[in-house]
Amino acid sequence: MSGEAPRRFALRGRILHAVGDPAERGEAAIEDIPDGLLRIAEGRIAALGDYGDLRHALEPGEPLIDLTGRILLPGLIDAHVHYPQTGVVAAHGRDLLDWLERHTFPAESAFADPEHAREAARFFLDELLRNGTTAAVVYCTVHPVSVDALCEEASARGMRIVAGKVMMDRGAPAALRDTAETGYRESAALIARWHGRGRIAYAVTPRFAVTSSEAQLEAAGALLREHPGVYLQTHLAEQRNEIATVLRLFPWAASYTEVYDRFGLLGPRSLLGHCIHLAEAELARLSASRSVAVLCPTSNTFLGSGLVDLDALRRPPRPVRLGLATDIGGGTSYSMFQTMAELHKVVRLAGQGIDPCGLFHLATLGNARALGLEREIGSLRPGCAADLVVVDPARRPALARRLAAGAEEGVSDLLLALAVLGDEQVVEATFVAGRPLYACPGSGVSVGQPPGR
Ligand code: GUN
Ligand code: ZN
Repeated sequence: MSGEAPRRFALRGRILHAVGDPAERGEAAIEDIPDGLLRIAEGRIAALGDYGDLRHALEPGEPLIDLTGRILLPGLIDAHVHYPQTGVVAAHGRDLLDWLERHTFPAESAFADPEHAREAARFFLDELLRNGTTAAVVYCTVHPVSVDALCEEASARGMRIVAGKVMMDRGAPAALRDTAETGYRESAALIARWHGRGRIAYAVTPRFAVTSSEAQLEAAGALLREHPGVYLQTHLAEQRNEIATVLRLFPWAASYTEVYDRFGLLGPRSLLGHCIHLAEAELARLSASRSVAVLCPTSNTFLGSGLVDLDALRRPPRPVRLGLATDIGGGTSYSMFQTMAELHKVVRLAGQGIDPCGLFHLATLGNARALGLEREIGSLRPGCAADLVVVDPARRPALARRLAAGAEEGVSDLLLALAVLGDEQVVEATFVAGRPLYACPGSGVSVGQPPGR
């Protein structure tokens, strides 16, 4: 499956990555090196710069892969995705709760079988790589073996994965329910087994307030207090009838956000999927707690959840930290390019705007910052892991033509065209920690052999 890269090698191509937040620095936040050289050593970025300046530094015998005409991007990051849902993408439901009951819960029941989980984990991770995604924050199922399968397969690939066992003690079929007590114990055992092992981190994962009792949310809060480095992932304010259900189940709460707040589930490592229908007081609380609102635009259009209010989320003086995600299988594309395009569209439909550099930042450095991992992933800065994507616009004639016609345009226009017209077809190769784990047929990069041979 995976090629063993030499300890040192170099790639030549156009280098594009975010080095800051475009909301603060505009286009200057995107470094664009038209004829660039990227040197990789021991799985990390050793140097990057202009080919003409850096080529003299290449060591004798250091393999150089010439990817002229291609674009080198940091590996894309998906901040919210369900690996057990690969089989329910595009399944029809009346709304979120109906979709969960009719399609998602039955599909997740099969993950009690470790072999089923392993096969799904392999498909899922390979699909991420085909799409240029090298890091992801992943929901497993209620079964601990589903976490083991994903983490073992991710470890074999060397991928940066944050994952957790779903905690769900009500509102779901018996085969998918744990209890406050078993959910706590199983999560604690998984934290001990996986958190901090290689590139795996753990996320305590109460699915959402609809499927967890107060006792279980209390247990989730206890896990966070007892294991300070772990993340928290859940869903928040995705659909109106979901919110009404939560307010019925927790009659003392003035808002959905207050439910999570009461049990200590907000904070800088808390990743809250969707965040569409939020009142001002909830936005203020998310901001003050430095929680992350993870936007899932293809899911929101497919399930009819609504249009996220980006201006409200970003409004000073209390901006909410943001992430971007596919939310497969509510989401409809594994591609973070398509996810960027969909965010552009939902924001436009809401009468607002996000500039293309901001979209690209969210899928790379922004998501890395949301995870507190910007020193490791999200950009091609020296010292970061050599997680990167080789994009060949020529693989999608419509994109190649658009870029040729706009050759004089700025990086912003290029990034919007890449988002809207790009998908897995334009991904020529994907490297993880310097290893080429995916290369499409006919690529200048080969998997299974050291690059440059
Ligand atoms: N809310 C609770 N569970 C889910 C899920 O699996 N997908 C989505 N989109 N929303 C949820
Ligand atoms: Zn989700």
